[in-house]
Amino acid sequence: MLNRGDHVLSTAQFDRESLLDLFALAQKLEDLLNKGIPLNLLEGKLMATLFFEPSTRTRFSFEAAINRLGGSVISNADMMATSSVKKRETLSDTGQVVSQLVDVIVMRHPESGAVGKLAEKSRVPVLNAGDGSNQHPSQGLLDLYTIWKEKGKLDGLTIGMIGDLKYSRVFRSQCDLLKHFEVEFLFIAPSALKMDPAVKSELEKLGHKVTESESLQENIAKMDVINSSRVQEERFENPEEGKKYLGIYELNKSLMSEAKEDAIVMHPLPRIEEIAVEVDEDPRAKYFEQVRNGMIVRMALLTKVLGVEV
Ligand code: NCD
Repeated sequence: MLNRGDHVLSTAQFDRESLLDLFALAQKLEDLLNKGIPLNLLEGKLMATLFFEPSTRTRFSFEAAINRLGGSVISNADMMATSSVKKRETLSDTGQVVSQLVDVIVMRHPESGAVGKLAEKSRVPVLNAGDGSNQHPSQGLLDLYTIWKEKGKLDGLTIGMIGDLKYSRVFRSQCDLLKHFEVEFLFIAPSALKMDPAVKSELEKLGHKVTESESLQENIAKMDVINSSRVQEERFENPEEGKKYLGIYELNKSLMSEAKEDAIVMHPLPRIEEIAVEVDEDPRAKYFEQVRNGMIVRMALLTKVLGVEV
């Protein structure tokens, strides 16, 4: 269960009960937001966003979330180039400093474990907005919230994950959360970009059926959730190597004609060549709604760690 003052560093912190509790809270906030009711739940609270890696959705949606709850934000979108890290300040010291000024910190960094390092000595909650290819808990949470809302359940679904399963922190985080539900996994990836075998074997040990294939065409009809993501070129030892996988699983109208009528298409964005623009008009495409769900789930997370009752 998420409590006041907790950091959110990893999806491992969540179990089935705490997930359903968070989604119920998110839905409540979404209803209030949709009715246009002003929410001043976090009035007087200040959040810092420390981003050491590019972002559009994650930073803006955290910032929109605190603003919509009546709080405010100070932001540095390019910490790597413009903060005292440039003068060799340690992450731990940066954490101690910023936490003297604000009530909550949101941070993204290209190295696995870096957000945890900053959190060690922070006196306020730190929320991981992505650390290398390790974790992206708030994205995993908003992805599950999207499925829960759209399908009305999580149990009993077949979840397809398509593309770069090796370097994607999003898929890793999703697996770690979906394992609490009775879902079947269909991993579609070229052999060089397969899911970490440790993740796969953990899911199997827990009793999930996991199927791996290189073909989207052969498997799309089985999926309730068609879940794609970008090739994480920047995480390859040789980024040029990543380019050869661009567009290999492009979802287009013709492939979508083979998908279930009630399937949903998800993508954390940015998309590069994974989904043709023609699919945007398909009512099963949910990737832009996912962005709004991201703001809502982040509103829920902020009220939880700041200890405010909704
Ligand atoms: C993802 C990320 O940063 O891991 N983006 C996001 O937060 N929506 C996915 C990606 O960059 O491909």
